[in-house]
Amino acid sequence: MSEGEVKQRVLVCVAWPYANGELHLGHVAGAYLPADIFARYMRLKGCDVLMVSGSDAHGTPILVRAEAEGLEPQSIVDRYSAKFDELWNVLDISFDIFTSTATENHRNVVQSFIATLDKNGYIYQKETEQYFDPIAHRFLPDRYVEGQCPHCKYQDARGDQCENCGRTLDPTDLISPISKISGSEPVLRTSQHAFFRLSNIENALLEWVRPKIGWRNHVKKWTEGFVGSGLHDRAISRDLDWGVPVPEWLGLNANKRVYVWFEAVMGYLSATIEYADKNGLDWHDWWVSPDTASYYFVGKDNIPFHTVIWPAMLIAHQGLNLPTNVPANNYVLLGGKKASKSAGLGKPAVDYAKAFGTDALRYGLATLLPEADDTELTEDLLVERVNTELANGWGNLVSRTFALAVGQLDGRTPNPSQLSSAEDSNLMAVVDSALVESAKAFESVEIRRALRIMLTAVQDTNAYLSDAAPWTLRKHDAQAAAQVVSNVLCALTGLALGLSPFLPASSRKVLDALGIAGALAWERPALVTDIELQPIKPLFVKLDGESIAAR
Ligand code: MF3
Ligand code: ZN
Repeated sequence: MSEGEVKQRVLVCVAWPYANGELHLGHVAGAYLPADIFARYMRLKGCDVLMVSGSDAHGTPILVRAEAEGLEPQSIVDRYSAKFDELWNVLDISFDIFTSTATENHRNVVQSFIATLDKNGYIYQKETEQYFDPIAHRFLPDRYVEGQCPHCKYQDARGDQCENCGRTLDPTDLISPISKISGSEPVLRTSQHAFFRLSNIENALLEWVRPKIGWRNHVKKWTEGFVGSGLHDRAISRDLDWGVPVPEWLGLNANKRVYVWFEAVMGYLSATIEYADKNGLDWHDWWVSPDTASYYFVGKDNIPFHTVIWPAMLIAHQGLNLPTNVPANNYVLLGGKKASKSAGLGKPAVDYAKAFGTDALRYGLATLLPEADDTELTEDLLVERVNTELANGWGNLVSRTFALAVGQLDGRTPNPSQLSSAEDSNLMAVVDSALVESAKAFESVEIRRALRIMLTAVQDTNAYLSDAAPWTLRKHDAQAAAQVVSNVLCALTGLALGLSPFLPASSRKVLDALGIAGALAWERPALVTDIELQPIKPLFVKLDGESIAAR
């Protein structure tokens, strides 16, 4: 854990995707895959893990889509939520709950959270000026207004955030604003809104973030800089008819909705409550107990909402755990450009999962997670990693070993009495120390490094097998050859275990074939003796880059 304590429960929070389009590889590598790998590691380690997320049903992206198609926003949400579920399924992403912000539970949680903020003195009302499109005759949601960023002067900043410098904005901050609906210059009209006293929380936030250890450098630096340069109060209501209604007791008119970011981040809490209610559990265990750590897997552009706004809301609310760590990823670049739905780059991730196979795609992406920097991703690079490292390296080691065991151990896992010595302690040390080292990488949420460590142990084991060459050795010393094969079988159990967060289905196949069932821990499982072994089918097929590109 990043603060040096061992926590029993781990809440894995994953960014809620806007339900306005399919997810592509940038999203998968940015948040969903690393979150899943991390959650699987924590489960193996023995922690009680809850991994939550859901469809972000509100906000302008959904409205834009609904308007373009002439449909109700909810039918857009339903369509893409079903696509998300399909993706979790084909990619083996193990959410405990994937819900939506359009639920009644979420609305209730949001409204009562705001009531607590109000009771604690953090909500007030103010008449403000908001942009109105004089041609379309409507108030403009933040993202419908674009203009120049007042901080970095980027030309195409959106009314909610500047993509270039990452700062959150109010539409009225923009220089030379234009309406995205009609292209006209919007006019300001007054409207009464609810505000969150973010300015009062500046010091508390700084005191919270400064001592954090184990945070990614870029996340901590950015957060300290942003908070340190001064926070101002934010409007939390909008003139819209799609979203969580502003609580009636606030006395605002009925056409107002809670600002989408302000309510979406509460989804982590509302999803936990929904899960606990359905399963007869107590949600406080996840949000109040000091034994619970929380990790937020999000992309770089979501940092301010998870390291500033949501923690500020939690501080103002009181009594709920703040994030333990926000291991935000950088961008995945496709052809040098940020992969994003709006840039339209890349096919839906579901298509890639089907073309590569689940574990192969998980593997390829995990070797290229944008943890330290923006990372270029190409189909060729993915294919190459899968073919050389996964199929040739790990897959081949498994097939070779099973074939040898069938030929040289009478097709059974060894019976210790038949062997001349215990397992080779050098080889076991290679595997065991890889498990120890990759655990350290996991604790600091360096998923890519954790995988590299396991892969190096795979390569070392392959080298051990090639050097010992039991196929030659057996000609003059059958028992020594059998010993080598049995050593490698012992190594396989630990390697399959260490790879299982990355490659859940194929690792399970290896462990099943070795007769290893039941509860596992983050340590090399003991080889079960006298299990009947069959030749194992190749775990991974070599990919043909051209046929993948043609799909
Ligand atoms: N829907 C947002 C996006 O896709 C992410 C929301 S994360 C949440 O950028 F926590 F606010 F839900
Ligand atoms: Zn900017």
